[in-house]
Amino acid sequence: QPAERSTAFTPFQLILLSLMVVQNCAVVLLGRYSQAGVAAEDKFSVKTLVALTEAMKLFACVILIGIDNIRELHPSRTGGYLPDLPFNRLVMLMPSAVGVEISKILANPKNSLAVSPPAALYLFQNNILYLALENLSAPVFQVCYQSKLVTTALVSVLLLNRRYVKIQWVSLVLLGIGVSVVVIGEQDSSEGDGGQTDQNLTVGLIAVGLASLSSAFAGVYFEKVVKGKPTSLWVRNVELAFFSLVFSFVYGIFSEMFVTKSAEDLEFDAPAKSFLHGFTAATYALIFLQAGGGLLVAAIVKYIDNVVKGLATGVAVVVSTTFSCLFLGTEVKYQFALGGIMILISVWAFSNHEKVAKILGDR
Ligand code: C5P
Repeated sequence: QPAERSTAFTPFQLILLSLMVVQNCAVVLLGRYSQAGVAAEDKFSVKTLVALTEAMKLFACVILIGIDNIRELHPSRTGGYLPDLPFNRLVMLMPSAVGVEISKILANPKNSLAVSPPAALYLFQNNILYLALENLSAPVFQVCYQSKLVTTALVSVLLLNRRYVKIQWVSLVLLGIGVSVVVIGEQDSSEGDGGQTDQNLTVGLIAVGLASLSSAFAGVYFEKVVKGKPTSLWVRNVELAFFSLVFSFVYGIFSEMFVTKSAEDLEFDAPAKSFLHGFTAATYALIFLQAGGGLLVAAIVKYIDNVVKGLATGVAVVVSTTFSCLFLGTEVKYQFALGGIMILISVWAFSNHEKVAKILGDR
């Protein structure tokens, strides 16, 4: 259970939240613009990128559970996160510390299996996000992705019997209206250009809607599993990344089996593309950012709470939209500005409903 939130954040919580804002902006801008203008045959495979991200998360979480184990034996006297040991000693202790934890996981495979449904959902979400990014501008994508707050609230009511107060429901409706205003504004302007761009708004919106839904189901299911058993969060994340990797391989193999080769490929007997085809420095940066983002989500839910995570992504919308306008020539239409403001107000009001009630004198 995350600690009860006081009004002021600790420096550690603020660092986590600031990192989350930077990560969110960087992923969206890099994911959107690093592939813009690249010919279809030169693009990297999203499946490979997502699988490598999961592998990196797995590696990072294994190190984190090793550190947690060593900390129990050598706790820091200064209260720091790392044990009071020289770096080379830490490295030497790591294999046995990790081994102990891995054997605990392997001793109870049924326990681990519980995270396989959210692993499949997160994998789907992480793959479909790139389809959304390809078809929507960075600001529109981020604004529409705020609908995660609505889907997560609805799924929490359904699966966790969570209750919300009237102000929170009103905020969610306002958020939905805000997203609709942005979407209608985009539809008008894409009709205005006679559909000249290679982006497909409908595909982008369906993809972002599906990603919001699967984020909600995965997040709520994962919360249920984490709260149900006393296993550490990093152990749960090792299991999550492990199942995501397994599903990635299965998905990769199946999609290769059923892919239909173009007539040109068949005629010229084109050589198979390499595993890392189309990967550039930007792609490796995306893997690093996505893996770090996954760990940040886990840490924020553990050390702060889910709602504050929503606020950080709201701040990221403002930062990356400003960046897109100033440096990437994205034009912000008045519907976007209006819808964006409605969304940000509703995200804030949802998590600060008590303050809103006080302001409205409705306590
Ligand atoms: O919940 P949300 O949609 O914000 O999650 C964003 C990403 O965080 C997902 O892509 C998922 O892969 C990752 N994640 C994770 N570990 C968790 C929770 C989420 O890696 N415990």
